[in-house]
Amino acid sequence: MKIISVVGARPNFMKIAPFIKAIQDVNTASVSSPEEKQESMANGDTGEQTTSDKTIEHLLVHTGQHYDDRMSRSFFESLGIPDADINLGIGSGSHAEQVGNTMIAFEKVLIEEKPDWVVVVGDVNATLACSVSAKKLNIRVCHIEAGLRSGDMAMPEEINRLVTDRLSDLLLTPDTLSNENLRREGVPENKIRFVGNIMIDTLEANREKAKKLDIADIIKNNLLDSGHVQDFISASKETGAIPAVREGNYAVVTMHRPSNVDQKEILEPILNFLTEEVAATMPVIWPIHPRTKKMLQSFGLWDKAMSCKNLFLLYPIGYHEMLRLNMSATIMLTDSGGLQEECCVLGTPCLTLRWNTERPVTLKEHGGASVLVGNNILRIKEEYRTALKAGRIPQRPEMWDGQTARRCVKEIINYQETIL
Ligand code: UD1
Repeated sequence: MKIISVVGARPNFMKIAPFIKAIQDVNTASVSSPEEKQESMANGDTGEQTTSDKTIEHLLVHTGQHYDDRMSRSFFESLGIPDADINLGIGSGSHAEQVGNTMIAFEKVLIEEKPDWVVVVGDVNATLACSVSAKKLNIRVCHIEAGLRSGDMAMPEEINRLVTDRLSDLLLTPDTLSNENLRREGVPENKIRFVGNIMIDTLEANREKAKKLDIADIIKNNLLDSGHVQDFISASKETGAIPAVREGNYAVVTMHRPSNVDQKEILEPILNFLTEEVAATMPVIWPIHPRTKKMLQSFGLWDKAMSCKNLFLLYPIGYHEMLRLNMSATIMLTDSGGLQEECCVLGTPCLTLRWNTERPVTLKEHGGASVLVGNNILRIKEEYRTALKAGRIPQRPEMWDGQTARRCVKEIINYQETIL
């Protein structure tokens, strides 16, 4: 069986890493040693159908949607993802440009490689584009993280999820609410498999390594060059730590959704809240997404962010660094989907800067750690104060057990065997 799996943007990398590892494990288990082969020949086996016929041929395609080292290559290195076999080099552009260019380039790969399956993860433009190219060539599609729905059609990722799921032959879901979403849309039962959350495989596999990182080092090594960067570095040389940043006494912020960062009227009050209220009580660590940096600069807000002494603006940071910060943050303010899930398992109180979520299982009402605050500043302030009193309560939704990738590969093999 030949599988092409696809990545395009940062949140895909932590989902594909355990999937590739699970394929490697299947291949290791199914390739018998030369001694074993000789023994089975001696026992009358003709050798025509050796166990090695069950190995999976796998190619990784990177569409190149995210291309900066800090948004892409650093994740390959730190998560042990093998280099992509093919990089489509798509880069930035409008949605239609990204999707259209990816479809054209990926179609050529499919015609050349003729895979049995295309495996896509998550909800980025690469997920949508590659599913469409594959289905148009009648190649089977498997979607890992199927069935998530925010119900918000203004969100580009919701369109990507809907189209990808409509086209997929095998829909591997992270939670049972997603199964219900798919059933409601009329997806036949035999296409849906509940396998759990593959991101949590990566979290569990990397927890110990992340724990060893030093928070002050993460800040020092990733701090954006600002007027006060030298103050921090010389202060930290004297004291051995970034002043005031201690375990359990800092906030972490991430923001990149167009709905939060593309309009000044929305971004400015959030920035004011961070610099005036949050930074007044604890250090704020903000690894900044390229889109957000660009927007702050274009709205003339960049200097304000850079000059706030208790706000540490960082470059986009690596997987282990973010996990380490999350492990002992007082609070997370984010519009990322993956961080909501990681906060749920780690128990970090999380203010989700969105009006809806495709991951309701992470919400307090479902036992999770996050609360939807949208981008209304009064609501953000109110929930911020409530969340500070809450403390950490780690939760583990069903099958978020670190074994999801193994189940994904098993489901693909089972499906393949039923159709042959
Ligand atoms: C994309 C995904 C989103 C995901 C996010 C995580 C879609 C529709 N959106 O959003 O679901 O949560 O990634 O990061 O696929 N840029 C760089 N360097 C890079 C990548 C991007 O500077 O390596 C800049 C580009 O110039 C672009 C902007 O960042 O203008 C946004 O990038 P884009 O890939 O269009 O979408 P994201 O907002 O990153």
